[in-house]
Amino acid sequence: MKDDFREILFTSEQIAERIKELGAEITKDYAGKKLMLLGVLKGCFVFLADIGRHIDLDCEIRFLTASSYGFSSVSSGKVNIEKEIEFNVSGRDVLIIEDILDSGITLTALHALVAKNKPASLKTCTLLDKPERRQVPFTTDYTGFICPNEFVVGYGLDYGESYRNLPYVAVLKPEIYS
Ligand code: IMP
Ligand code: MG
Repeated sequence: MKDDFREILFTSEQIAERIKELGAEITKDYAGKKLMLLGVLKGCFVFLADIGRHIDLDCEIRFLTASSYGFSSVSSGKVNIEKEIEFNVSGRDVLIIEDILDSGITLTALHALVAKNKPASLKTCTLLDKPERRQVPFTTDYTGFICPNEFVVGYGLDYGESYRNLPYVAVLKPEIYS
């Protein structure tokens, strides 16, 4: 499978170290509060499992589902997200956990959906941020790494539902998706 990648961008050791720092920062920022970690499926599942174990607070873990890519390496611009949230976020301190901020379309839509339900506070945390790809302005409150403008897979991120289980983040060779 290593033949499918051009390079490894972030090794599992680098990711583990960064997540430890982020977890400590979040623990400090939300001290004394009960936090709701709201993961965006499916890409968040590895990141949330790892960062959650570095947040030393009482956490409620919830998930929402979003999808835009399908079998493509470029965003369709349309996001499918749930129309309503099935659990109570009102008055809660909510932290959205997402794999990557790319065009900004997904997080903008999710942020609006959660905000509509009147949380006490609402912040976002992504493992990766690709600022060069932004189509709508969005900034995260907690970012793991700035990612170059390349299609990446691993550590939860997929191409056509493959590669999510890689322990690192790698750049997929363009011939795989073109
Ligand atoms: P956005 O709405 O364009 O910000 O896209 C966010 C979603 O697109 C993420 O949750 C990912 O599922 C997907 N995505 C964006 N960039 C990549 C990438 O480089 N590799 C894999 N998935 C990506
Ligand atoms: Mg995806």
